[in-house]
Amino acid sequence: MKKTLVLIFSLGLVSILLSSCAKKTLKDYAAKHGVKTGVAVAVSDLNNEEHLQIIRENSSIVVAENCMKWESVHPGKTTWNWNEVDRMIEFAEKNKIAVKWHTLFWHNQNPRFLSSLETREQALEVMDEHITTIMTRYKGRISEYDVVNEMFNEDGTMRETIWYKTIGPDYIEHALIKARETDPNAKLFLNEYNNEEQGNKKADAMYEMVKDFVKRGIPIDGVGFQLHLATIYPYNAVAVKSNIRRYADLGLEVSFSEVDVRMPVPPSENSLKTQTKIYSSLAKLAKEEPNVTSFITWGFTDKQSWVPYTFTGYGDALLYNRDLKKKPVYEAVLQEFAKK
Ligand code: XIL
Repeated sequence: MKKTLVLIFSLGLVSILLSSCAKKTLKDYAAKHGVKTGVAVAVSDLNNEEHLQIIRENSSIVVAENCMKWESVHPGKTTWNWNEVDRMIEFAEKNKIAVKWHTLFWHNQNPRFLSSLETREQALEVMDEHITTIMTRYKGRISEYDVVNEMFNEDGTMRETIWYKTIGPDYIEHALIKARETDPNAKLFLNEYNNEEQGNKKADAMYEMVKDFVKRGIPIDGVGFQLHLATIYPYNAVAVKSNIRRYADLGLEVSFSEVDVRMPVPPSENSLKTQTKIYSSLAKLAKEEPNVTSFITWGFTDKQSWVPYTFTGYGDALLYNRDLKKKPVYEAVLQEFAKK
């Protein structure tokens, strides 16, 4: 009896010691600064144990790369494809990972039936039905939504999407109000690219719109900076920081929502250095600015990224190489979050 007790006690002690010595991961370090880390997950990842392992190791939040977009989840007026969405959410829940819905409204990857919408009334009805069907089904299981994605042109005017043309510029606030009403606990984001630097026309237009929303009590919790960056373009950390801060002043969060930093391939030493600088700077901003709540990369391995087929001649934008090994830039990001 005594021997058994001693054995149980020692086993317990060993397991406590082992868990306290377990190597801290990127997501652990980021969590200390109130930042969730994660990746965009492709449906094919769900069938690949090696990929799933990397996603588990790095994610406290995941976002679907494609399966929650209209053409995939709601391809016909009365047709819904829940299968892949359910699988992704089940995987996340099993691993205690939060899920962000990307995206309720966008101008891309839409089903054909949306182009037949003509009147404001028709469009509002379809919009509301999309919101209520999804947000009721997943109430309490999706922690945040990209309610509208990419609503601006580069010059700061509003993009003339199907929603803009049929409903008018107030389609965004309408969507936010309906979304809040349907699941009051979900965080609501508006997501954009090239909106990270204060002084850029698109960034300023977005800020002005959101400021007006806050003033008028339109529900919104934060803004996503996609941050699809490239080593060949200037990157201005000071302008990103001041932009983050003006959202903080409005009481809003900022999500680094789709980070990748592409470079001409094969990569030069210089590009690699620039990439590391940009990634580290973003990690530092996420760490230091209290209202930056997530740091999500758009995928994880260079083997599987939208970059090479979207930007000819570019690649190597992510933190894992084609052999699923962590790149030096991964370590740089980890170190940045690990530092006080
Ligand atoms: C991309 C996906 O990565 C691709 O697989 C798909 O073919 C096109 O869309 N901004 C966004 C994302 O908000 O939804 C886009 O994702 C990348 C740019």
